[in-house]
Amino acid sequence: MKYLSISIVAIALLAGTAFAEDKIATLRDAAITETLSPPAMAPAVNTHLKQVRNYPEQPPLIPHKIDGYQVDLNANKCLTCHSRAAVGESQAPMISITHFMDREGQFLASVSPRRFFCNQCHVTQAEARPLIENTFVDIDTLLKQ
Ligand code: HEC
Ligand code: HEC
Repeated sequence: MKYLSISIVAIALLAGTAFAEDKIATLRDAAITETLSPPAMAPAVNTHLKQVRNYPEQPPLIPHKIDGYQVDLNANKCLTCHSRAAVGESQAPMISITHFMDREGQFLASVSPRRFFCNQCHVTQAEARPLIENTFVDIDTLLKQ
């Protein structure tokens, strides 16, 4: 039993060094004991222009800033512009009909609880240097090749 636990510790230590050498495993550029000051947050893209989806099922990106927009049990700031009733005033696109569907595919009278927390799916973008390389190619480009 004693030998078994010693070898488990040895394996764990070996695995630890393997991770430390793997650049992808951490984006942290310093020893774990060092406290880094985070880089300044890049401002959100606020062009108000629709952005191309990378694949048809992608939740559209938010083309405006959302600083301070409250979305919790008590309030949903997004729906003050994007709900069915609000769009006449706000001229924002209405949340689509899929957002009224429950998990059985039934349409509810208002936004489904599973779509309430908008930022689970919809995000803003920032003009920032990518942390790792991305070689994603969209389907139209693939089809052309
Ligand atoms: C003050 C009104 C307002 C609020 C609040 C608001 N939006 Fe918007 N939103 C708009 C308008 C208007 C547009 C159309 C493009 C533009 O003008 O930015 C838009 C566009 C969008 C789009 C792009 C839709 C598409 O088809 O490309 C998404 C996604 C979106 N908003 C999500 C959100 C989310 C999520 C929140 C809350 C965190 C939110 N919005 C809060 C007004 C608002
Ligand atoms: C579980 C993921 C998810 C959540 C949560 C969610 N959405 Fe969406 N949303 C999507 C997807 C996927 C689409 C594109 C397909 C569709 O219309 O269903 C979309 C489409 C939209 C559109 C574009 C509609 C159109 O007809 O162009 C708006 C605006 C939008 N969502 C706003 C919101 C707001 C506001 C909330 C929060 C109340 C929200 N969404 C919550 C995934 C989500």
